[in-house]
Amino acid sequence: MTLDRQTVIDRLRSVKGPNLEGDIVSLGMVSEIFIADSKVFFSITVPARQAQELEPLRQAAENAVKTLPGVRGAMVALTAEKQGGGMGTTAQQPARPAPARPAAPPAQQQPAKQDVPGIEAIIAVASGKGGVGKSTTAVNLALGLKALGLSVGILDADIYGPSMPRLLGLKGKPETAGGKVLKPMEAYGVKVMSMGFLVEEDTPMIWRGPMVVSALRQMLREVAWGPLDVLVVDMPPGTGDAQLTMAQQVPLAGAVIVSTPQDLALIDARKGLNMFRRVDVPLLGLVENMSYFLAPDTGARYDIFGHGGARAEAERLGVPFLGEVPLTMDVRETSDAGTPVVASNPDGAQARVYRAIAEKVRAQLSLAMQASAEAAPAIVFE
Ligand SMILES: Nc1ncnc2c1ncn2[C@@H]1O[C@H](COP(=O)(O)OP(=O)(O)O)[C@@H](O)[C@H]1O
Ligand SMILES: [Mg+2]
Repeated sequence: MTLDRQTVIDRLRSVKGPNLEGDIVSLGMVSEIFIADSKVFFSITVPARQAQELEPLRQAAENAVKTLPGVRGAMVALTAEKQGGGMGTTAQQPARPAPARPAAPPAQQQPAKQDVPGIEAIIAVASGKGGVGKSTTAVNLALGLKALGLSVGILDADIYGPSMPRLLGLKGKPETAGGKVLKPMEAYGVKVMSMGFLVEEDTPMIWRGPMVVSALRQMLREVAWGPLDVLVVDMPPGTGDAQLTMAQQVPLAGAVIVSTPQDLALIDARKGLNMFRRVDVPLLGLVENMSYFLAPDTGARYDIFGHGGARAEAERLGVPFLGEVPLTMDVRETSDAGTPVVASNPDGAQARVYRAIAEKVRAQLSLAMQASAEAAPAIVFE
């Protein structure tokens, strides 16, 4: 395919204008396009006052063009009449908009999910709401599986707050591995792809929403994951349309739900369980995070969070209970430092907890995969 201006213009029609009204081509915002040595140069004209807040638009346009076949690079600049301040003022983050409308068909008319070549099993780590330690669990679970001798990858699909770059101390952008396939980043022997590598951290949600499905697809199918036993997907929190879409888009072998012990969180966890049931994804089990407090000085255990709720709830719902993770300073600090406990302190108590959870997940996963292999030829109507 030859690279010409029309191809670039056509691709840019996928980039929405400010306020999501129209696209930047139809709005007449795109300048003349220059192509030299497979590199694309152009500018986007914006009102001076909006220059700073439209940086994500520039990024989106650049990224859209960079991913065209045959493009070796793109330079996109914002141009504006020089008047009245923009620069220096901090762009206001817009309020978090409602999750994107479903870009995938509703659950009933699910398309057949395509396996990802080279990946044996994909599992989701999900939670009914944010802040329960889903990402912390995902990363330590992945490292626990790795410690069991499996080859492991982590796909950070949390568009609301990609955290793998921070949790694993990863910076920079993934490189291409020839053609348009990206090489995953790597940390502690685990392969990693994150929304955080592809979308700038301050990209407003309003732009992230529409990018979700294509970015997820890209991270799943256009990444050289290489042979992997398990790919752990850190899902976005919640059970809305965006989450459902993702649960449908990814050929999941199973899901792990993370909850805190509080009743309120368990209501959310139940919603999470139901979401995966709706799309026929086997539930590998429930993890109770921040289950009890482990005093850093004495190692004494304090059950201060109504601990045990998740275990009881798992029993009631007939879902395996995978384990209790204590609230410890260690877990928090190592997360912030990009050195997750399972890797940085493999002999510690927390690492042991996570490895035990990983063992249970592995066992549940092989049961689930066995069951699906046996059930595969039959079509069951409920
Ligand atoms: N078991 C734990 N002990 C101490 N801090 C924890 C634990 N699990 C999570 N955290 C902390 O709680 C915060 C939220 O965790 P995170 O994994 O980012 O949640 P989520 O992905 O569900 O939003 C982080 O600051 C993290 O370090
Ligand atoms: Mg998270």
